Amino acid sequence: MCGIVGALARRDITAVLIQGLQRLEYRGYDSAGVAVIDNKGDIQSRKTQGKVKNLELLIGAEPLSGSCGISHTRWATHGVPSEENAHPHVCNDEIALVHNGIIENHEVLRKQQLAAGHTFDSETDTEVIVHAVHDYWKDSNNLLEAVQKTIQNLEGAYALGVVETANNKRIIAARKGSPLVIGIAEGEYFIASDVFALLGEATQFIYLEDGDIADISLDGLVIYDETGRQVTRAINETELKADNIGLGRYQHYMQKEIFEQAAVIRNTFQGRIGGGRLLDSCFGEEANEAFKTIEEVQIVACGTSFHAGLVAKYWFESIAGIPCHIEVASEFRYRPHIVNQKTLFVTISQSGETADTLAALQASAELGYAHTLSICNVPESSLVRLSEWHLMTNAGPEIGVASTKAFTTQLVALLLLVVAIGRQHKINQQAETDIIRQLESLPEKVAEVLRLDKEILNVAKAFDNKHNALFLGRGEQYPVAMEGALKLKEVSYIHAEAYPAGELKHGPLALVDENMPIVAVAPNNDLLEKLKSNLQEIQARGGQLYVFADKRASFEQAEGLTIIRVSEIDDVIAPIIYTIPLQLLAYHVAVIKGTDVDQPRNLAKSVTVE
Ligand code: M6R
Repeated sequence: MCGIVGALARRDITAVLIQGLQRLEYRGYDSAGVAVIDNKGDIQSRKTQGKVKNLELLIGAEPLSGSCGISHTRWATHGVPSEENAHPHVCNDEIALVHNGIIENHEVLRKQQLAAGHTFDSETDTEVIVHAVHDYWKDSNNLLEAVQKTIQNLEGAYALGVVETANNKRIIAARKGSPLVIGIAEGEYFIASDVFALLGEATQFIYLEDGDIADISLDGLVIYDETGRQVTRAINETELKADNIGLGRYQHYMQKEIFEQAAVIRNTFQGRIGGGRLLDSCFGEEANEAFKTIEEVQIVACGTSFHAGLVAKYWFESIAGIPCHIEVASEFRYRPHIVNQKTLFVTISQSGETADTLAALQASAELGYAHTLSICNVPESSLVRLSEWHLMTNAGPEIGVASTKAFTTQLVALLLLVVAIGRQHKINQQAETDIIRQLESLPEKVAEVLRLDKEILNVAKAFDNKHNALFLGRGEQYPVAMEGALKLKEVSYIHAEAYPAGELKHGPLALVDENMPIVAVAPNNDLLEKLKSNLQEIQARGGQLYVFADKRASFEQAEGLTIIRVSEIDDVIAPIIYTIPLQLLAYHVAVIKGTDVDQPRNLAKSVTVE
């Protein structure tokens, strides 16, 4: 995590550095800092604990200016959030550096540097990098060479921006394992952890590859690969506009992104289905050919994306008739696997930069998986670039740390994959047409469920003074309950757990009393009657039940039971629809409790460290 920005121009770039950090704040927000080389060739630095707005205030009180600089917003890994641990880190007032990633051998390097006479100002893993660069720089007086030599001794992940005194016309940037993009404008260069930071400043973008190091000066840009060979990397443009990332009429990004779902879900399927069929162009000829040979699917993902994969497991096995395995990436990567080589390895990620998911994908080739496919929201991401095939979710930028529209669009993309693979197994033309029809009905059904907003706001009031909550679902609604519980805990800090409703009596029922709110999702499916029996077990013990139920499902009125009616939903798309009221519930509870909805404590949007 952490966000870095750098800029080199013939004007003062302080405001660019700060604006870039504001747009990267979703990556971390416990401290922030900036360093520029001023016109005397000195390093001017400001750092502060807390959000970028604190840094802005500090710079307002103690201004600085320069045409070459770097900045950073931090998500603490090594060392508490504090001014000392905030980046940039500076050595001897001569070299300043920002870092995103984790240096795994920092303890060894720190010992060596302490023995060599360096003193440390912070507890971070990063500080060893700036000292190492300085040591090499003193010998050669060449910043590029110094960074090249330094990174040879680093183990772990890094995206770096480095500047030196007496040269306000040069930035060295390097990456391995953490993302870094170079932005180009007329006579100006920028670096950043992602393109959002540079919208409105740069018009062209170069995504550095793992191991690349870039020597950026006002005279031009030279990129070297990890062997030191000069290389040319593709120049890209982006369709993103600075207005895409505004709040519009909404109070929070989470709210905006929940309400965008009707539109962005359409973006996920539009152009990929037609005439009651999945179009062959959706995955392309080569992938379609490979799908004919696929016998199993292995899904790997984290967090909300993992929950999307859990729903897809039900779909792959029940609709497509093909075995599907799923595991969280942080577990998958550290255990041996018995691999059926005719398995499609599917990764799911909003950001495409989640370190564990990327590492699992990288391990998949060695493990012998036949093919890899990623479902992702960021076209320029590492995951997309490393996968054999990809399907973009087209949800647009998701800024709220709590993932909402990414989840529902991932489900739509996964359903397209279920159809593409299922055609070779259990899905016949009639079944395919039925699924496509259900997909096409989604925007309208989403708009309908969003109209429950006010009713859900009322339900949310009951959670204000609660410390715990249970979420229940059965079948493919169990992962929906898990996602509802994750949303609530992330943004409201209420401890929430999800259970398959049938599992309650095996333990969790002991938690139920009149203080325990229990949220259940009850679509009109084969498991409805069984779910109702489970809910009665709760009512009998005084639990406070909030049930999102299909209009057709009959429930007898009872004390402690609140029913929120959801319109009639077809079976396959029910997990997509039933997720949305749970997102709204979490959102309203968070607003009522007054938490930082878009940037909940301790979290970051893009988890680029393991
Ligand atoms: O970018 P990714 O989808 O790979 O991120 C995975 C998780 O970090 C993410 O879903 C996280 O759990 C969200 N904060 C959930 O709202």
